[in-house]
Amino acid sequence: MKKITLAATAIAAVAALALAGCSSDRGGGESTDGASGSAGFAADSTIGIALPDKTSENWVLAGGLFEDGLADAGFKGDVQYAPASNTVAEQQNQISAMVTNGAKVIVIGAKDGKQLGTQLQQAADAGVTIIAYDRLIENTENVDYYVAFDNFKVGELQGQALLDGLAARSGHEAPWNVELFSGSPDDANSAVFFDGAMKVLQPKIDDGTLVVVSGQTDIAQTATQGWEAENAQSRMDSLLAANYGDKNVDGVLSPNDNLARAIITSTKQAGKDISKVTVTGQDSEVESVKSIMAGEQYSTINKDTNLLVEQTIKMIQQLQKGEEVDVNDTEQYDNGVKIVPSYLLDPVIVTKENAAEAYANNPNLLDIVNAAG
Ligand code: BGC
Repeated sequence: MKKITLAATAIAAVAALALAGCSSDRGGGESTDGASGSAGFAADSTIGIALPDKTSENWVLAGGLFEDGLADAGFKGDVQYAPASNTVAEQQNQISAMVTNGAKVIVIGAKDGKQLGTQLQQAADAGVTIIAYDRLIENTENVDYYVAFDNFKVGELQGQALLDGLAARSGHEAPWNVELFSGSPDDANSAVFFDGAMKVLQPKIDDGTLVVVSGQTDIAQTATQGWEAENAQSRMDSLLAANYGDKNVDGVLSPNDNLARAIITSTKQAGKDISKVTVTGQDSEVESVKSIMAGEQYSTINKDTNLLVEQTIKMIQQLQKGEEVDVNDTEQYDNGVKIVPSYLLDPVIVTKENAAEAYANNPNLLDIVNAAG
């Protein structure tokens, strides 16, 4: 997947719509050509929302926001989570049932973006529009749009935060000892986050500024199956036991907050002074914002779930009216079969220094920041 710098401004991209139209032979549901003015669908239609297991707070928040937002917009929302125990099969069943029950649009936060081909063919045959939410759906032409925060940029911000934190808190000059973690291999985002971070970090590994003491720099070695905190914690335990001893670990690239806190727990248990260690994160989870304000976790990323859900509902409303759907990126997200027209939002890096400003519109997080003084 190539990164191309694009203007942030939204364009109602006729080109993208033409692209979506010609790479899919699906029947109805969406307007792929403003001029022909396809009719959309009834304003009180059912909209399916298929979310994965709750591996981060953002997934929990999204469910409630979709329930409320779809109801306010006059739709019948059908919001489903797949249980942690059997997520892929359950999500497949849920999507099939949404098609059978007449959903006009199905929004999917995929558990495994490569395993929905059969269900999405069924959806396409029924004229259902599919929006991939937060995570890309791969290897199928039957995904119409993608809406997410710019994942590559998330990775770049994490890589830069690691470098900034090392300089600010390690207490010494380079070289710095670091370890690298990535997310679950079944989530398309994991590689994008990692590639974004490595764009910043690889040159620093090559020139000796950073030393990955374990030598584990390949994404397969850094992966955290299922985005499970316990997997990150046990990998960190092993890395420290096998490679560090009395050595300092100066920093850890963590792809999200849930894993960051597990890595911090492991590092503290190994007797390291966490105030000198830079651990990155993502999601602005409550416990991580507290940790940042307490001087433990170094950074997180603000990906405001309200904005992502709002944008998704806007796309659904455009589909309902038979209007062109706003996208602002038609180049980055190649799912293996097609480039999926995307609407990407801008992620924001957050450290203790800019937390008050970053969370100015989020009363809960702002309270935590203010309470920490
Ligand atoms: C999301 C992250 C989240 C992770 C684990 C990713 O696909 O983009 O925000 O931390 O899944 O739930």
